[in-house]
Amino acid sequence: MSAPSEQGDTPRLLGRDEVDDIDAILAVTNTDVDTLEHAVTDRADAVFTWDYTKGARPGLERLYERAKVSQWNASDLPWEVEVDQAAVAVANQAANRAGTPLDVTGTCLEHWGEEEWTQFGIQSQNWTLSQFLHGEQGALLCTAKIVETVPWIDAKYFAATQVVDEARHVEVFSRYLHEKLSGAYPVNTHLGLLLDDVVGDSRWDMTYLGMQIMVEGLALAAFGFMHQMTTEPLLKQLLRYVMSDEARHVAFGVLSLQEHYAGLTGSEVRERQEFAFEAAVRMRDRFLQQEVWERMGVPVNEAIRVVMRTPDQALFQRMLFSKIVPNCKKLGLLDAGDGWLRARFAELGVIDFEHLPDTGEEYEAFALAGGIAPGPA
Ligand SMILES: [Fe+2]
Ligand SMILES: [Fe+2]
Repeated sequence: MSAPSEQGDTPRLLGRDEVDDIDAILAVTNTDVDTLEHAVTDRADAVFTWDYTKGARPGLERLYERAKVSQWNASDLPWEVEVDQAAVAVANQAANRAGTPLDVTGTCLEHWGEEEWTQFGIQSQNWTLSQFLHGEQGALLCTAKIVETVPWIDAKYFAATQVVDEARHVEVFSRYLHEKLSGAYPVNTHLGLLLDDVVGDSRWDMTYLGMQIMVEGLALAAFGFMHQMTTEPLLKQLLRYVMSDEARHVAFGVLSLQEHYAGLTGSEVRERQEFAFEAAVRMRDRFLQQEVWERMGVPVNEAIRVVMRTPDQALFQRMLFSKIVPNCKKLGLLDAGDGWLRARFAELGVIDFEHLPDTGEEYEAFALAGGIAPGPA
């Protein structure tokens, strides 16, 4: 099935004619890097409910009960582990390059030796963990907002547990970044714009779609990738713990929106499809890591084009959507109306993931085996 609109909606939604226009993507930068506070106007109503029937939504109640017995303490992680960041960068690069060596002949990276690549790996880690940290704060604010805005008591209960989870995630990523790594980066502008939209939207379900389905769906995939790749024991355990929480959060989005979307009109669903597409592209744009290339002092545009042409990078970019696509399918967003979102995800090259399991049930598989006592990852 293909949508009739094709490229027609791209300029309106993304502010550029072509989804892959790297010049346009890089033209949007964070000009607010020195301020310590960033205020966003929240247009949503805070909603009381007088219906206190616990378990009216059994799926959400199960999640809430699971969340209450799955709490862990950030202080119990093995913070005494010493992290040799250069060694981690070298190991990561070896793992990433195992398949296809990067051909830099005739490019601005041609003269890079081992030292530059290691430095790039270190900066890339600093950047990645910084964006995880900012995303976690986004989740903290968004979910505090859901406590206020969602009209169902079972959802308010679960969201309250997620707020605690997110505070813990901000705590662990901040501590890891500041104690074990060698520098932090401000929020990437594409991620920041998305978080602003999600926090500011007046419709409570848009917070869920932007955060629980899109941002956290991507985070679950990205954490899983890094958890598998890293040989650094503290980060490995930290990510494993965080993932056990994140899977619940994504399931929370799937279970809540399934019910809500069933009652929406065609044009309301179309707005959700467009929002999901916009969010997907913004998250993909942020993974260009433009700030890292800037800090390395090479022409950003050229360096990104060199790295983007490797099959491994393309695979990584696609993999980030491995949770988002099946969850959008479960919510009926792929095929609603004229199949608009299916066509967009096909253009992004990620539609194949539609057959993977959705997270509505899969969260059980992420639970920590043998309870939540600290131990080897
Ligand atoms: Fe989180
Ligand atoms: Fe989360």
